[in-house]
Amino acid sequence: AKTHNHDFVVQETKVTRLCKTLNSITVNGQFPGPTLEVNNGDTLVIHVTNKARYNVTIHWHGVRQMTTAWADGPEFITQCPIRPGGSYTYRFTISRQEGTLWWHAHSSWLRATVYGAIVIHPREGYPYPFPKPNRESVIMLGEWWDANPIDVIREATRTGSGPNVSDAFTINGQPGDLYKCSSQDTVKVRVDSGETSLIRVINAALNQQLFFTIASHKLTVVGADGSYVKPFTTPVLMLGPGQTTDILMQADQAPARYYIAARAYASGQGVPFDNTTTTAVLEYKTATSKPIMPPLPAYNDTATVTAFTTRFKSLQIAPVPTVLDHSLFITMGLGIHQCPPETPAQNCQAPNRSRFAASMNNVSFVFPSNSSILEAHYHGIPGVFTTDFPAKPAVTFDYTGNVSRSLWQPIFGTKVYKLKYGSRVQIVLQGTSIFTPENHPIHLHGYDFYILAEGFGNFNPKTDTAKFNLVDPPLRNTVSLPIKGWAVIRFVADNPGTWIMHCHLDVHLGWGLATVFVVEDGPAPWQKLEKPPPDLPVC
Ligand code: C2O
Repeated sequence: AKTHNHDFVVQETKVTRLCKTLNSITVNGQFPGPTLEVNNGDTLVIHVTNKARYNVTIHWHGVRQMTTAWADGPEFITQCPIRPGGSYTYRFTISRQEGTLWWHAHSSWLRATVYGAIVIHPREGYPYPFPKPNRESVIMLGEWWDANPIDVIREATRTGSGPNVSDAFTINGQPGDLYKCSSQDTVKVRVDSGETSLIRVINAALNQQLFFTIASHKLTVVGADGSYVKPFTTPVLMLGPGQTTDILMQADQAPARYYIAARAYASGQGVPFDNTTTTAVLEYKTATSKPIMPPLPAYNDTATVTAFTTRFKSLQIAPVPTVLDHSLFITMGLGIHQCPPETPAQNCQAPNRSRFAASMNNVSFVFPSNSSILEAHYHGIPGVFTTDFPAKPAVTFDYTGNVSRSLWQPIFGTKVYKLKYGSRVQIVLQGTSIFTPENHPIHLHGYDFYILAEGFGNFNPKTDTAKFNLVDPPLRNTVSLPIKGWAVIRFVADNPGTWIMHCHLDVHLGWGLATVFVVEDGPAPWQKLEKPPPDLPVC
């Protein structure tokens, strides 16, 4: 196995999109940032220097970070931020993961422009579990604001209201030729007739689930979130933010130009969203024709999403834990904080003089500011978190219906859930419709989990357990919770550290839709969290 050294300089860079030039935060002046290409088993050493004027951290989304939680990256969870002028070296090994993951800033809304792909080839000397493709490419879907994204979220935080939706979706940083001033820079993906391409699709958007398709071509899904799946063919993908999907595409159509396109899947009711379409062009050699536009599902086409999601199965038989040590039921959804009368109206611009909030089991997660959770756990620093995150909601109600206003107001807290090393954990993730039903791509750090089943309505332990796939459920790090529905996940807590589980819509994360699992060391030396690196940033 190799060791790859990289320097990441976080800096301000002039980026022009939609006829406007902004001072964007980038890595090494690149937007999107550099692609990291490795083999399974390799080690990455990434030296990050912060030359920007914001605090920053980098998260390696989906990388398991076995015993190296110090390199995971979420601000105030596993490290204090890298201050302007500071630096930090992330050191970790990719172990038993193959396919596509990605990296992104994990601080405020910096990941709007600070992100890149992680391409993980098979262990050296080993083949793909499918015929070797002729070409490989990476497609990163993103969101672009015609403004500084940090200002967008700061303004929303000040007023307590929802932030502006983005001004464009992007493919590899480019909005594409359906947007003003963008056609020159539209991304082109070249193919030759008869060839097969492995295309790694990543949803790096901040707040939007996305449909993805390529005109006239069949897409064969072979992997997701850094694990292989049983191949299946589909005309369209749906990815929640954080998710990746690897597809094989055969260039078997007339040599012409075809649009690659992505657009919102936004089934939440009454929630504003960006309804524009981003495009790139799939180009057969020498073709110059006008690109062919594919059909895309409607923004609320949940049936297409369900038909797609239910086809995911692990390539191999999966060692799903069948005996459980912890069975949790966690509700997730929006809410509001009613402002006390003395709060100025300009800080309470959510409906009826309130501020928006979001929570898990009615707890709105508060990030610490004087220490990371991991340092507090490792050094035994008191007062940073409490270990009373509830294993189930305090009250049960119809999670899919309108409920009384008293349920709308979560409590604040830095509440974590403790797990002994090796615990076998099941979590029922239940979406609520408090305030409004919404989509929630739920991401767990430090682990891949099996998705046993997903469904609509209130999870029913009597009947829904019959739907569990205990044979070959997909192994993922992010599950797109069905709207007004639930998903059941399982994992074995074999990675010591402190691991945030959160909604990967940045707007919901900022509102507190998160909790943290604190996993203790195991008895064997290789089951223990490593020592903190000497250059770990201080708070
Ligand atoms: Cu991709 Cu906590 O993030």
